[in-house]
Amino acid sequence: MAVNEVEFTAAEGEIVGLIGPNGAGKTTFFNLVSGALRVSGGRIFFRGREITHAPAYRRAELGIGRTFQVMKPFPRLTVMENVLVGAFLRHPSRRAAEGWAAEILEMMGLSEFAAASARALTTAGRKRLEIARALALNPTLLLLDEVVAGLNPVEAEGTVELIRRIRDRGTTIIMVEHIMRVIMGLSDRIVVLTHGRKIAEGTPPQVASNPDVINAYLGTH
Ligand SMILES: Nc1ncnc2c1ncn2[C@@H]1O[C@H](COP(=O)(O)OP(=O)(O)O)[C@@H](O)[C@H]1O
Ligand SMILES: [Mg+2]
Repeated sequence: MAVNEVEFTAAEGEIVGLIGPNGAGKTTFFNLVSGALRVSGGRIFFRGREITHAPAYRRAELGIGRTFQVMKPFPRLTVMENVLVGAFLRHPSRRAAEGWAAEILEMMGLSEFAAASARALTTAGRKRLEIARALALNPTLLLLDEVVAGLNPVEAEGTVELIRRIRDRGTTIIMVEHIMRVIMGLSDRIVVLTHGRKIAEGTPPQVASNPDVINAYLGTH
């Protein structure tokens, strides 16, 4: 079982870090919350409404945006068109959708690549495009799956700054990340999964000093 009896809450405006070893069930958890996978037990609520059986498009409408750890741009569309796909959810006219998409590309530092094919982007660019595609839905809750891992230090610092700005605009964020400096610095609260179960939860200092977490994930060094 990939995720089992994980009780998890995120409060409005919070950044919650979700950490744990490879295979712990972090991405599966995101798939359950976003509706890419169905739960076989348990219930999921979003802003007071039960969404356990809601299809993924309905969850997107309600305000849940997510990125994919294995980036999933539409490779034959341009960078602008990739963002437009989500922008049409809130802006049915093409003109308004393009305006909104352009704003997001600007915020993500992708404006100069708007007309380029998504497949022409570097890894860092494609990771930013993942965030841009999710932001196009104007989400209330954003699920970020390893959007910093694999970036060089300068790119990583830029993405960390962006995540702060997204939260400051009022978006709640749950993020999976392995880079401790990043997750400890950004998170208000951290939840730790191992083998599909929650083994700890608390502030970054509480989690970093928890013996179970050190054993299962952080290591003694
Ligand atoms: N589509 C799938 N079918 C079967 N098993 C899967 C699938 N996706 C992930 N798993 C398994 O579920 C467990 C949790 O995986 P995952 O959620 O990707 O972990 P994490 O994101 O924490 O590294 C792992 O044992 C993984 O091999
Ligand atoms: Mg994962």
